[in-house]
Amino acid sequence: MPNARINPSILSADFANLASELERIHTADAVHVDVMDNHFVPNLTLGLPVVDALRKVSKLPIDVHLMIENADRWAPEYAQLGVDSVTFHAEASAAPIRLARELRSAGAKASMALRPATPIEPYLDMLGELDMVLLMTVEPGFGGQKFLDLVLPKIKRARAAIDGSGKPIALQVDGGISRDTILRAAEAGADVFVAGSAVYSAEEPSVEIDVLRNLALG
Ligand code: DX5
Ligand code: ZN
Repeated sequence: MPNARINPSILSADFANLASELERIHTADAVHVDVMDNHFVPNLTLGLPVVDALRKVSKLPIDVHLMIENADRWAPEYAQLGVDSVTFHAEASAAPIRLARELRSAGAKASMALRPATPIEPYLDMLGELDMVLLMTVEPGFGGQKFLDLVLPKIKRARAAIDGSGKPIALQVDGGISRDTILRAAEAGADVFVAGSAVYSAEEPSVEIDVLRNLALG
């Protein structure tokens, strides 16, 4: 059965009113929270205390996307807050297998992200350690960037590997997802879609989420 989950990114929300910004996306499948440390990416957003506060008020599951150095040190702390899933970047982890196991044993889904130019092939043997793979479809750091079509072949290769593994591993894409691009990503094999600017720039974010989900289903 085809599947399409929409996880809006609050990076494009009004940071002064995060609780009410969560209400505006009540039709979403989860909320995507972008943590940036100004080292792994040239931007700074929020950290553990704000994620903890969001968790307390959110009715939606929280999907944390860590764009931070030293993921091995910090990612488990996010898992311990009780969020649904924690995504770390492969490029920021010295020991991704150990880290994925730590996240799971802290009760979170383990998810690993790859920048657009990072190949999936070195990680294929560890797919079984993961609940989700996130393929960035822009260089991480900012909302509102243009979708990189050059990632589509990697999405297809990841989809084939996940299907071959027989495991229920989600395949998420993040960056430049909009009415214009979501079907391309879905046809390549993605089944979880992060959308920041497309959702929060809409007059009715909750309706835009349904529009995007239907477009992904083709
Ligand atoms: C970018 C972040 C994304 C961002 C997506 O580095 O990881 O989650 O919010 O924003 P859009 O959908 O506007 O590209
Ligand atoms: Zn993100």
